[in-house]
Amino acid sequence: MDHLPAWPRLLSDIGIDRAVEEAARGILVQMTVEEKIGQMIQPDLVELTAEDVRAYRIGSALNGAGRWPGGNRRSGAKEWASTISEFWEAAEEAYRDRPFRIPFMWASDAVHGHNNVHGATIFPHNIGLGAARDPELVRRIGAATAREVAATGMDWTFAPTVTTPRDLRWGRCYEGYSQDPEIVHAYAHAMVKGLQGEAESLRAGSGVVSCVKHWVGDGGTFEGEDRGIARCSEDELRNVHSRGFFAGIEAGAQSVMVTYSGWEGSGRVETRIHGSQYLVTDVLKDALGFDGIVIGDWDAHPYVEGCTPGDAGNVIRAGVDVLMVSTREKWQAVYRSAVEQVRSGAIPMSRIDDAVLRILRVKQRAGLWDKQPPAERRPEDRATALGAPEHRELARTAVRKSLVLLKHDNAALPLARTSKVLITGSAADAVRKQTGGYTVTWQGDDVGMDDFPGGLTVADAVRSVVGEDRCTVDPHLEHADPSEYDVVLVAIGEDPYAEMFGDIKPWRSIAYAELKPAYAHDLAVLRRLRESASKVVTVAFGGRPLYMTEEINLSDAFVAAWLPGPDARGITDLLFLDAQGQRAHDFQGRLSFAWPRGRHAATVDSGHEPLFPYGYGLTLQATGDAATGSTGPLPLDEEEETAGAPSLTASRVAIGPGTDPYVFEYSATDNGPQPIASESRTETAFISVEPIDHLGHRDAISLTFRDIRTFVYARESGGKPYDLRDLAAAGGRLSFHVRVFEAPAGPFHLTCHDDYPQQPALDIADRLRELPVGEWVPFEVPLAELAAVGVEFDHVDVPFMVYTEQPARLDIGGIQLVATPRA
Ligand code: BGC
Repeated sequence: MDHLPAWPRLLSDIGIDRAVEEAARGILVQMTVEEKIGQMIQPDLVELTAEDVRAYRIGSALNGAGRWPGGNRRSGAKEWASTISEFWEAAEEAYRDRPFRIPFMWASDAVHGHNNVHGATIFPHNIGLGAARDPELVRRIGAATAREVAATGMDWTFAPTVTTPRDLRWGRCYEGYSQDPEIVHAYAHAMVKGLQGEAESLRAGSGVVSCVKHWVGDGGTFEGEDRGIARCSEDELRNVHSRGFFAGIEAGAQSVMVTYSGWEGSGRVETRIHGSQYLVTDVLKDALGFDGIVIGDWDAHPYVEGCTPGDAGNVIRAGVDVLMVSTREKWQAVYRSAVEQVRSGAIPMSRIDDAVLRILRVKQRAGLWDKQPPAERRPEDRATALGAPEHRELARTAVRKSLVLLKHDNAALPLARTSKVLITGSAADAVRKQTGGYTVTWQGDDVGMDDFPGGLTVADAVRSVVGEDRCTVDPHLEHADPSEYDVVLVAIGEDPYAEMFGDIKPWRSIAYAELKPAYAHDLAVLRRLRESASKVVTVAFGGRPLYMTEEINLSDAFVAAWLPGPDARGITDLLFLDAQGQRAHDFQGRLSFAWPRGRHAATVDSGHEPLFPYGYGLTLQATGDAATGSTGPLPLDEEEETAGAPSLTASRVAIGPGTDPYVFEYSATDNGPQPIASESRTETAFISVEPIDHLGHRDAISLTFRDIRTFVYARESGGKPYDLRDLAAAGGRLSFHVRVFEAPAGPFHLTCHDDYPQQPALDIADRLRELPVGEWVPFEVPLAELAAVGVEFDHVDVPFMVYTEQPARLDIGGIQLVATPRA
């Protein structure tokens, strides 16, 4: 790809159309301020009623992940379309006595198929598609997805994600097609074409509005931190992180979603792109010439300086056109504050008109004025499009094309259909490890086979090939004797996650077996098999390549299967001969990310030599007849075990507040970490917090929790976690002073942790309730007590955390870790 020395002017395939512009402008000039702001606010399904749409003239809504009509996760196309129709009708009524109407528009995250909807076809996540190196396949997946989305009465999908992830620790790595901007560029174009089609299909309704996201640099954040800051030159931002946007916009993408993250580079600091007039207006709109909707991400506005949960003024001023706002309280507050700021002139009317013109333009291009209410559209597809056999066949093909064969020795594959097979490993029969995040629910961690009619886990798929009798499933290798089988199939892989929940913290290794005890168990199983199994074939699921050298060395064949979806037949298609005893398919996938050689080789740009380079992938054709090693000299070099975090040796460590290097922060479930101001009160909808004097200056904090889950914690600002295991074993304690004004109304948790938010915690509510009201008293918890509820101490960067979701009012100060046991 040519290097771009400046931001290019892009030419969209869906260009300016005079009739569209005239219609949009004709409406815009008649609109009131309230009507305009209503078009700019996008609430979520469960925080919006038809009455709200009428009252606030709301222009669009989304169903966030895990939100379904009536809370029913099994809702089908009919329920979806009729729910969406209610909102559509409300919008029609809202304009009944106006000389114009503005149709309603519905959005969803159909990011790997229509993944929030029961019965829909689930395609492999983008990382798998990247390995397929097949833009035409991607276009077809887009078209199939659009058909399913349209069949549920929706108009708009927040896809494709065109990020270029450069750090494997990033929890959203799997949402990216590749570390290589060239693939992202080709696929962005193909997916937008598939989803939207050409101008006419979008207007007619076989295509849906697409959205390239997240503008810009989200794949380049420092240490792979989700919602972090990308530190790179503007040249890199343009040539590495923007290529997918260029291609998507040229293909006609009608919306762009802004990233939560920020950018620091070329002498510029844009701590949040949502607040960056330069990147949103000057670059995206003015330089590139994007003329569709710029949408903000879910509740991203409070991250921007000067904004609060109820005020998105600075985000609107920066150039964002539609604001996705979570709760009713918040979207109504954002609506009101925006109207006020327009009235006072703090937000220029020209900015609002730009936003609304774009919204009306996209609605025009989507043909909404000519469309029927959602429940009456595409009746032929209502009962047949979701999970249509041809779509499922396409998904199965996509799985076959996405698998990458990393190792093939001893002519291990293909397997005969008469083989006696033992299936083991944590992913043997766990569909959620195949489907990953953004599947039915946000994290995708609570799904089961009931969620996927027609789905097959690896175990199911193998059973369907070799028959029940020849197949034993023993995920933890507790019962079976491996020596009794022709082959042991080991299915391993990451548990599902989405966004920051998938981040691997910078002080941790990216070794699979070091990430979770269950993954270590998978390695232990492989070690045991070395002694007892005649042939080991490993299939590894997951959202990114991880350090797995020993796992690879212990396998005769090793397949990277990414996040293929609920139907594992695409995997068995490649592992087994067909019914005629022929090899019907061969591996075609090639790595779209380099495979790491070391436990800390997480960053693409660090110059580490990979274990398997970008583009690597074996075929059976090339390696099948070789009796011995075909992947080069074996075994591959394994790294020494890493040394852990340093132990804490001091006898007493003051944590604060006000004690370096600890910083105090708070965060609510739907809001990112926020620093606690050191000299003033911070007042939010979920917490009020203020540093106060106790024994010294500002050495305590006064806390009022409300009824939203909120965390308050001390974090080591230098990112130097401690290993507190010795301290815990030696009777160490977490000690502080507390003054209770209103005892917690519900559970009140205390913990230490390194792995937010997965660590368990101790409920200290009862103990707090027993304390005298309004009096400072000492409070101590032995670390052993935290250990007993499951807190792990090997890498602790947050030595103190409390959280609750019920009201409570108390002061806490003088927090410290104390090594000596109490006399
Ligand atoms: C994600 C977006 C998504 C949005 C709506 C956010 O948390 O970052 O990718 O489109 O939620 O569900």
